[in-house]
Formats: sequence, C-alpha cells, structure tokens
Amino acid sequence: MSNFLIFITGGIAAYKIPTLCRLLIKAGHNVKVGMTENATKFITPLTFESLIKNRVYIDDFITDVEPDSIDHIDLIEWADKIIIAPCTANTLSKIANGIGDNLVTSAMLVVKEKPVYIFPSMNSNMYDNPIIQENISKLRRIGYTVFEPDEGELACKTEGKGRLIEPEEIFQLVTEGKFKGIKFLVTLGPTKEDIDPVRYISNWSSGKMGYKIAKYIKDNGGELFVVAGDVCLDLSVFPHVRVKSAEDMYREVISRFQNFDVLIMTAAVADYRVKDIAAKKIKKSDEILTLELIKNKDILYEVSKIKKDKQIVVGFAAETDDLMRNALDKLNKKKLDMIVVNDVSRSDIGFGADDNEVTIFLTNGEKIETGKQSKYNIAKRVVDTAYQLFKSKNE
Ligand SMILES: Cc1cc2nc3c(=O)[nH]c(=O)nc-3n(C[C@H](O)[C@H](O)[C@H](O)COP(=O)(O)O)c2cc1C
Repeated sequence: MSNFLIFITGGIAAYKIPTLCRLLIKAGHNVKVGMTENATKFITPLTFESLIKNRVYIDDFITDVEPDSIDHIDLIEWADKIIIAPCTANTLSKIANGIGDNLVTSAMLVVKEKPVYIFPSMNSNMYDNPIIQENISKLRRIGYTVFEPDEGELACKTEGKGRLIEPEEIFQLVTEGKFKGIKFLVTLGPTKEDIDPVRYISNWSSGKMGYKIAKYIKDNGGELFVVAGDVCLDLSVFPHVRVKSAEDMYREVISRFQNFDVLIMTAAVADYRVKDIAAKKIKKSDEILTLELIKNKDILYEVSKIKKDKQIVVGFAAETDDLMRNALDKLNKKKLDMIVVNDVSRSDIGFGADDNEVTIFLTNGEKIETGKQSKYNIAKRVVDTAYQLFKSKNE
C-alpha cells in the first residue's frame, strides 16, 4: 500500500477528486491532500477532510496546527507518489520554471526521486498554447509523467482537448504505474575475476546507476529482476541475484533474457579473466609477475544472437576517450536498440558519483544529451526512452 499525496489546483474539474480519494482509500492506500488557495474556491477542504479523515494542507505559513512541521517538506517526505489533479496551466508552468510561491509549488521544488503524475485540465486553447506545451515537454524531460487530457465538451462550453481524465482512470494510472506489464532485466555493478583465493581483478563500478534505473522501474510499476555484481547497495528491495564473475553474469543473463521485454545492461563486465586461477595464494617472489588473461564472453553480443524483434536491449558504454565512435561501434556490432555513453574519466560523474551526464544514441540516428543530473534523473531518461522504443515496437 502506498502513501498518495494529492495536490489540487484551481480548475473546475476539482469536483472529480473526491471520487479519486475514495477509490484510493477503498483500495487501502493512505491519502493526504494539499490545495492551492484558488482550488478552495472550487471545492471546500471540508469535503476532503471528511473523506480522508485528515487535515488538508493549504497555507504553508500556518504554524499553530503542527508547529514542529514544515508542511511543504514533510508532505513530500511522507509521499510515495505525488498526483497533481487537476493541474492548472498556471501551476504547471510554475512547476516547470522552479517557482515556489504557495504550498503546492514549494512542495514540488522539494521532490526528489519520487514518481510525479500530472493531470492537466484546462481550456483547449490554453492547452495548445506553445508556452504550456513547452512547459509540459520540460516536465516530461525531467521525468514527471504528464498525462494527455481527454477530448470532449469543456466547462467553458467549447469542445477540444483539456478535460480532466475521469477519476476511475486516474486511479488505474497511478496505482498501476506506466510500466505495468513490462518486464525489465537490469544488470549492475562490477564483476570480479579471481587471480588466486585472495585476489581478484575488477573495476570501479559502484552499481549506483543501475540501482537508480531499477528504482525508477519499480517506482513506476514495472516488473523487475536485477543481476548484480559485488556492490555495497541494499538490493533487498528488488528481486535479484548476486554474481561474481563475468561468466556468472553471462549465465544469469542468458538464461533469463527470453522471459523479459527490456534488458538494461549497466554492469561493468570484465573483458578478460585470468587464464589459470592459482589454487593457492601466489607468493611474492620475482620482480615481475605475469598474469595471462583470456577474453570473456561478450554478454551483449551473445544476447544479440537470441534477441527477438519485440525485445529492447540497452547497452552502456563507459569510455575514457573517443566516446562517440566507440559507442556507435558497439551499438551496431551488438545490435542494440540504444546505447548510453558516459565519460568515466571525469571524477564528478560516472563510477561511484551521485551524478552522471550521458549521451543516448538510438538506431534511427537520434541523439539525446542529458546534461549533468542526478543518477535518478538520468535513469528516468534512459528507461523512458527504452519504454518508448518498446511501445513503438509492440503496438
Ligand atoms: C471559473 C473558472 C474556471 C477555471 N478553470 C480552469 C481550468 O480548468 N484550468 C486552468 O488551468 N485554469 C482554470 N482557471 C484559471 C485558474 O483558476 C487561474 O489561472 C488560477 O490562477 C490558478 O491558480 P492555481 O494554479 O494556484 O490553482 C479557471 C478560473 C475560473 C474563474
């Protein structure tokens, strides 16, 4: 069961939201409601207070109710999922431009790594306005889910796009999540290749990027399985298996791949392993110790041989030089649907860092540059792009 935070703004369709609250509560979810001052002119807070048996949050500056709380921060902390419905053109634009001048918009500035579902509702000319469309694109780019409003008769006596989606449908969209029914296989972290019983060869991958990808998929209702190298991350929140070597990872991925729709390979798999692993600890002796390495199986190349048309495979390329050429080479050779390239020579992004900056290449030649962002936000761009590819192949 989830904690749903519903923000209501000043549109005529606010009358539909009590039904949404009832549906969520009936399904066993916890609901809190925040409103803009203008929303209270359309529907009274008392309606919601009676339904959810909780106070409605409107004014951030009231301190006598719960003096020890800062509502716009505490509400976001409490929420698992945030819904804005109906979302006016005004609030949508404020959020897209970082304005926080009331409880709702201030709270939206606090959101980090939480699913946000925005349901715009407005006059169709307002909706078609290029500024509003630009703001919607901006919100989608940062990973918020902005749903298209319905078409039909509007309160302003015109016909067109702008009606708030019916509460029963909103209920389904927010409880099931956009990835419902899609199966994702995600690999993450480094592999380790034994040298002897006490030593190994590995790389600096922390698994953080893949972890955020898995989290974003889970947050949005996707089915998920994680194949993880040796990482210091709490994997208990996902179904997963831990592996050590590239060979182990190869086995786990190949045996599972056929049952998944989308494979996202963020793991940093060793290209080589030690040819003869010493049975006992190698003693210090000569000045130079030579290890003979042999090539590991290339997991993505092996996947490309069994991949079905409707499956999507996403590769990651951690490069230090000639980023683009190496990535495009990999995209073509391994028949990937998309490749995500990051520059691991920079210390502020890539291995171990909390931020990343990637370029995504698609097979149709499209190129998406993300700029530097948190790994969760990068995860949104990557997974949403893979999801679009999956939808277009499977419609
Ligand atoms: C009767 C009436 C109905 C309105 N309906 C909508 C609407 O459906 N969508 C919208 O974006 N704005 C609508 N507006 C305009 C908003 O209420 C106005 O932009 C307001 O500043 C929004 O404030 P808020 O975003 O803080 O709630 C309506 C205004 C009135 C007077």
